[in-house]
Amino acid sequence: MKVSDELSFRNIEPDDQAELLKLRNSNSNLEFFKNPNPVSAEDHAEWFTSRTSEFKELQILAILSDRLIGIAFLVPIDDHSGSISINIDFEYQSQGIGQELLTRMLSRADSLGFTRIEALIHISNSKSISLFEKCGFIFDEKISELFNRYVKSTKQNTLIPFPKLS
Ligand SMILES: CC(C)(COP(=O)(O)OP(=O)(O)OC[C@H]1O[C@@H](n2cnc3c(N)ncnc32)[C@H](O)[C@@H]1OP(=O)(O)O)[C@@H](O)C(=O)NCCC(=O)NCCS
Repeated sequence: MKVSDELSFRNIEPDDQAELLKLRNSNSNLEFFKNPNPVSAEDHAEWFTSRTSEFKELQILAILSDRLIGIAFLVPIDDHSGSISINIDFEYQSQGIGQELLTRMLSRADSLGFTRIEALIHISNSKSISLFEKCGFIFDEKISELFNRYVKSTKQNTLIPFPKLS
């Protein structure tokens, strides 16, 4: 079975809480966090409630045969800029899923009017740096000893229709 045959994408649902906690606390994800400790179930529940109520359309999940294997989500900074995070289950990394998910999230962000997207990336996270640069992000600023900010500025919302010619 090829991953691409069974892969689908959807918005977040209330039943995703437990699977997302597992993905969030997986070692391959924690490795590149500012705080590498697992999040507690309580903290995760609070995050999940806010994402499913206020920010429902700001995350896209990758599903393989009913199994949740990836997430990309955007945290708004202001009305037009946001910070993106992405995480693919270790077993399914390096098979094109991260790029597909990031591309979809950027397109969603564009359609929602975001014109500047940033990503804070650990200096030794070569996979992530390579993925984000491939998707048009450029180095912006060193923000700490271990993290750099990468930024992508998009054009105006491409879904705004051109004015009709009379
Ligand atoms: C970083 C991450 C999102 C990339 O997703 P992925 O599905 O593994 O990546 P893809 O297979 O879509 O590959 C897209 C690009 O990423 C880079 N990449 C992927 N695997 C790589 C590897 N093993 N080594 C170097 N670069 C790699 C390449 O540029 C690749 O493009 P290419 O296939 O044309 O060379 C994923 O590995 C992940 O979730 N890692 C743990 C959490 C994390 O680091 N999140 C990002 C925090 S900023």
